Amino acid sequence: MNVVDFTSALYLDLRHPSRCLAPWQRLTTGVPAALAEAPAVAALSAGLARLLGRPAATPARSSLHALVDVVGALGDGATVWCDSGAYPIAGWAARAAGHVPRRFAHHDPTDLARQLADLARSAPGRPAALNQPAAPDQPAALNQPPDPDRPAASNQPLAAGLARPGAPDQPLADDLAWPWGAGLADPAQSLAVGLRRQPAAGGGRPLVLCDGYCPGCGRVAPIDEYLRVVRQAGGLVIVDDTQAVGVLGRPGGAGTPAWLGISGPGLVTVASLAKGLGVPMAVVGGDPHVIARIRARGPARQHGSAPSAADLAATAYALKCNAAEGDRRRERLTTSVRRLRSTLAARGIRLTGGLFPVQSTPAGSPAAAAALTSALLRRGVRAVAHRPQCRPGTAAVSLLITAAHTTADIDRAATALAAELPAVRNGHSGLLAGVRS
Ligand SMILES: Cc1ncc(COP(=O)(O)O)c(C=O)c1O
Repeated sequence: MNVVDFTSALYLDLRHPSRCLAPWQRLTTGVPAALAEAPAVAALSAGLARLLGRPAATPARSSLHALVDVVGALGDGATVWCDSGAYPIAGWAARAAGHVPRRFAHHDPTDLARQLADLARSAPGRPAALNQPAAPDQPAALNQPPDPDRPAASNQPLAAGLARPGAPDQPLADDLAWPWGAGLADPAQSLAVGLRRQPAAGGGRPLVLCDGYCPGCGRVAPIDEYLRVVRQAGGLVIVDDTQAVGVLGRPGGAGTPAWLGISGPGLVTVASLAKGLGVPMAVVGGDPHVIARIRARGPARQHGSAPSAADLAATAYALKCNAAEGDRRRERLTTSVRRLRSTLAARGIRLTGGLFPVQSTPAGSPAAAAALTSALLRRGVRAVAHRPQCRPGTAAVSLLITAAHTTADIDRAATALAAELPAVRNGHSGLLAGVRS
């Protein structure tokens, strides 16, 4: 029996054959990204900014490199906060950039606000962090008040999203001094220096890290609420939108903030392009002065290689494909997701994930999740068993849908899940015995 694979996050099924890519002579410039970048980067950055609907953007080797750069460049005197359901890379990056991240409850802006207030109060005699202005060299925009007119989240088809057009492309401001030799520039010392960093009294400015879309609970983060909390304190929300870029939001799969109709100051987007666009490279998007600061001071950019010429060429090609066929592919995804959900709903099975192409069912224990994936595989459906970051102690089974799946593939998955899930939910002994043996 052939097996239909539902484990790939190449949601749009974009391909990048080498014959379609602009050729290159060298894969790398031989110098760190902060010192010199390939000529292709300027045009590509503008295209990436358009993709995210942000005023400016810059490429990075991976989401880990990107997050290290963001926290390293913007985190002086700040306290770093991680949504407890965030993908582990956010915490790793914060530590690599010299911070010990604090955690707040998943998708819970009230808990974040309470902990920020507690931290501010815990520094008696010092000005409360929530009322402190940003350091003088911080971009003024970080302190601007929230946008009162934000539209609410919506459950629209993937090709649509809420129509808030991206800001027009702007040139990158380059108003910051060349950092080589300053700040974190000593390669041997950078991590050690970073690890000794202390946040300012009262916690300083908050840098809040969260994922845009959480595949664990199938919900988008309350980014607008996080922004409301951190803007009062002169801070930033850094959204890892790896899952959603290319999938959610208009135009062109701009990601979760576009899906929610959120933009403006205080928001930095980081995304690997390895899912929606199929290119293992990342992007950071935000306001021009924030991006300029990251470009100049990002520690990974100072000490590491830039994305390769192959990555840049593949990204440029993927952006073209996304502009030409992305909406059709997103519509196809929406149709497949709706079909899977409605077929299973008719059989009493409700999946989590909304319209996102990661459709999941809780499976109880890890053993039960493994049993379910084995049973599905016997029916020719390869699914993913995982332990959602946002629900410790639980396990789930997910089907990752791509634009390559046919109606027959979707129907096969629905039939297999409908047949096997009840047995696992009822703790069918034979099924679990097969896993334990
Ligand atoms: C939210 C999130 N961030 C980051 C990553 C890692 O992306 P990459 O290694 O392609 O940079 C993933 C991978 O699944 C992810 O889901």
